[in-house]
Amino acid sequence: MSSNHKRPPSALIFIFGGSGDLNHRKLSPALFNLYIDNWMPEKFDIVGISRRPYDDNSYRNHLLNGINKFSRRKDDQNGAWAQFAEHIHYLQMDAENEAEYQKILEIVQQKEQEYGEHPQVIFYLAVAPQLVPGIVSKLGPLNICADTKCTRVVVEKPFGHDLKSALELNKLLASMFDEKQIYRIDHYLGKETVQNILALRFANALFEPIWNRNYIDHIQVTVTETVGVEGRGEFYESSGALRDMVQNHILQLLCMVAMEAPVNFDADEIRNKKVDVLHAIRKISKDQVHNHAVRGQYGAGWLRAEEVPGYRQEKNVAPDSDTETFAAVKFHIDNWRWQDVPFYVRTGKRMNEKETIITIQFKAAPNYAFPPEAADTWRPNRLTISIAPEMDIRLRFQAKRPGQGVSLSPVDMIFSYKDAYTEEEPEAYETLLLDVMEGDATLFMREDQVAAAWRIIMPILEAWTDRPPVDFPNYSPGSWGPEDAEALIARDGRNWVTLPPPHKE
Ligand code: BG6
Repeated sequence: MSSNHKRPPSALIFIFGGSGDLNHRKLSPALFNLYIDNWMPEKFDIVGISRRPYDDNSYRNHLLNGINKFSRRKDDQNGAWAQFAEHIHYLQMDAENEAEYQKILEIVQQKEQEYGEHPQVIFYLAVAPQLVPGIVSKLGPLNICADTKCTRVVVEKPFGHDLKSALELNKLLASMFDEKQIYRIDHYLGKETVQNILALRFANALFEPIWNRNYIDHIQVTVTETVGVEGRGEFYESSGALRDMVQNHILQLLCMVAMEAPVNFDADEIRNKKVDVLHAIRKISKDQVHNHAVRGQYGAGWLRAEEVPGYRQEKNVAPDSDTETFAAVKFHIDNWRWQDVPFYVRTGKRMNEKETIITIQFKAAPNYAFPPEAADTWRPNRLTISIAPEMDIRLRFQAKRPGQGVSLSPVDMIFSYKDAYTEEEPEAYETLLLDVMEGDATLFMREDQVAAAWRIIMPILEAWTDRPPVDFPNYSPGSWGPEDAEALIARDGRNWVTLPPPHKE
């Protein structure tokens, strides 16, 4: 959880990839929402950088289109857009040409004079991963980047393609910037419900005493989507579900659930506790991968009455592609708290539901005192943290049904954000961008976290590369993934949990 916010000091934000999808869908809607909520600094400017020929006006219109489509608050918000838009500028520049970086320095100088002070300078790299090293090595030598207090660089995932490239990228970043200037974004950490995991665990007396191997049978993390690769075939071909979702988002969720209590909410304290979890995750040896991990790829079929292409028929995807669009893994955490408690995780595209849930399955209570018929509906307690589509936390427990005799049934006690609060929750990118402007790195990935996460998934990646799949495509759109994923958990006498119907889209 990031600390309480203050309105940040003056800021100049450069967005590389200014005409790209991420800025269009996420960053500019987030910045506009921060502006409406009075969180933007008193003095600020945003400069979109890309090669396309926009001028300030056409660029602003392009961003407004994105807001109208993708923001939680659409339209110009009673004229707020016109005021906000004055802070948006466009810089046409070729980021591969070193000489053009002078243009950035000129803007910084000009804004410094206008503001009457040196602003924080934030470089947001919203570009394809292969462009990141080139930009970093041209930005780094600019004298403003030596200012470790005021200049920051925000790097989007993926951080590298594997352990080796991630270490190289980290090394390059470290040669140009101080670690505290580097903000590696994993947008899952900015999600309201994800941050609430820490409040749930550490601000209540109820859960923490039983949050361990003595009471918990196993934990599940499900992050499924109904969408396919959505025109990102080229990127996805070199990524796949394990790199795209497990190495980052899912391992981060797992850390939040499994970490020890922090001593305070300092960025490094929280990140130390998380990295401890990553270090304790048992390495799966390459020859054991088939017992711990399952991959899948969607075929063509029907989803919600719509005919959809298979992955191999998507644009920019090889017709014989071996890229996985589904991954399920069983992890173990070898420490005092979690020894012998399996963590099952799964993620996939074109699945039955868009669902991000964490399930804490408690062990069964002894039921010998109840009559045998009560055992029919005997279910162990379960805590489900739902991040999407609904934001809620539900606790399942046994209740006696009204009437004579003892008949039990499991019931859910639900805390729903929508019902409990009138405030609209901010989008993850709003929280994260505000944190960058404030200089709070708690919700960002540190260098060692990234490397530790790659070390965990490398054996799986290697085993899968060595042994190409023989059964792709192996799941239909609208299903819950390949049969082998069911078998992975069924072998242990367990089953995957999904949200009950009322909470489905
Ligand atoms: C991104 C992945 O990081 O997260 C996408 O690259 C995925 O493939 C997305 O669709 C899911 O994010 P969310 O917030 O919609 O769950």
